[in-house]
Amino acid sequence: MALSKTAPVNNAPKPHRFMPSGPLAGRIRVPGDKSISHRAIMLGALAVGETRVTGLLEGEDVMATAGAMRAMGASIAKIGEEWRVNGVGVGGLLQPRTALEMGNSGTSTRLLMGLMASHGVTATFTGDASLSRRPMARVIEPLGQMGAQFHGPAGGTLPLTVEGLCPAVPIEYRLPVASAQVKSAILLAGLNTPGITTVIEPVPTRDHSERMLKGFGADIEIEEADGDRIIRIRGQADLVPKSIEVPSDPSSAAFFVVAALIVEGSDLVIENVGLNPTRAGLFAVLRDMGGQIEELDRRVVGGEPVADLRVRHSHLSGIEIDPALAPSMIDEFPVLFIAAALAEGTTTTSGLEELRVKESDRLSAMAAALSGVGANVEEREDGLAITGTGGALLRGYAGNQIKTHLDHRIAMSMAIAGLVSTKGVEVDDIRPIATSFPAFADLLKTASGAAQ
Ligand code: S3P
Repeated sequence: MALSKTAPVNNAPKPHRFMPSGPLAGRIRVPGDKSISHRAIMLGALAVGETRVTGLLEGEDVMATAGAMRAMGASIAKIGEEWRVNGVGVGGLLQPRTALEMGNSGTSTRLLMGLMASHGVTATFTGDASLSRRPMARVIEPLGQMGAQFHGPAGGTLPLTVEGLCPAVPIEYRLPVASAQVKSAILLAGLNTPGITTVIEPVPTRDHSERMLKGFGADIEIEEADGDRIIRIRGQADLVPKSIEVPSDPSSAAFFVVAALIVEGSDLVIENVGLNPTRAGLFAVLRDMGGQIEELDRRVVGGEPVADLRVRHSHLSGIEIDPALAPSMIDEFPVLFIAAALAEGTTTTSGLEELRVKESDRLSAMAAALSGVGANVEEREDGLAITGTGGALLRGYAGNQIKTHLDHRIAMSMAIAGLVSTKGVEVDDIRPIATSFPAFADLLKTASGAAQ
């Protein structure tokens, strides 16, 4: 079944039952990395000249970013397999004429607020019910210090109107929460701010912004000192257009990696998976649990380490997961919980408070979802403890629909649970999957021999 990448947000929920599956086999390729795709559009839209992007993720979230950058003057079009972005130059963003509709996308919202903060433009950001609950204070705080003004609900949620300031004031900011979105918002604001803007990261988070800013010729330096990562950007320098090849998203590959590990008889190759060390935590954890995940043909694509992953069905054992690994697998916990539900013994996680402010509260959503399919799960304040079946199938459907709370990763994780259940798993709404992985259901069908 094809999922429309342009599904309107207000149409009716689309339930779907994901059925038990045969082995996953063959070779598949998942779509482009979401984080890298957002950044490619944003930086391309700020460079003078034409940036060309292949492998761009054409999900709703990235299209929201493209829509906003068009509204601020960039021209963005797909020609053949290539996206072409003609930018306005750093400092050249135009005043958008209507509100910027961000749909479900926290990354678009927070990074674009950063970009706008140092431009003399004013814009209102709106989003769907999930995004409208998510905290924006984490970017309002530093961007406010740089001079931007924010008008909206007292709790710092959408709809929010941002009034940028040009010239903005450079700041030095130590991140109070491990967040690549907050880091990136400040660096992007720093692009059009005179002087040096500094972000200090006590805990490293995904570094795609730094890598890509460097690639576009920004004046950016990174220093490691006393366990901190210190990133300095000197503003008001031009960006030069680039050709970018976006590797496949490890966060999307994660669903197929877990599926192949837990469905008996599977032997699947997932091609071209981005393995940036700030993103690859899940694969290390799954190997520690006994997962057979082999890296084939390691190479560099678009400035990022990449490999094909060969994944075979494995007997998994429960482990205690080091909370220090959380930032490197922050989006992968929902599907890791599915692997844990099939492992032998108990898997415990902690230090995961951030999961409560993602597209949904992923700790409570996954605890409810897993109990709803018969798994043994305990919800704690900062993590889950899951005792697995040791490989036996989950019960699955018992007349109930799993609530996905407009969260694509809950829907896809529970789809994978359906593959290893006796009766399938019915999720209440598959529309949100199109935010990050429009072809998910089709690819699952291909890899699992059309059981879906
Ligand atoms: C992202 C950073 C992470 C991640 C999100 C994408 C990014 O969010 O969860 O899906 O592209 O910078 P946080 O920075 O809030 O942890």
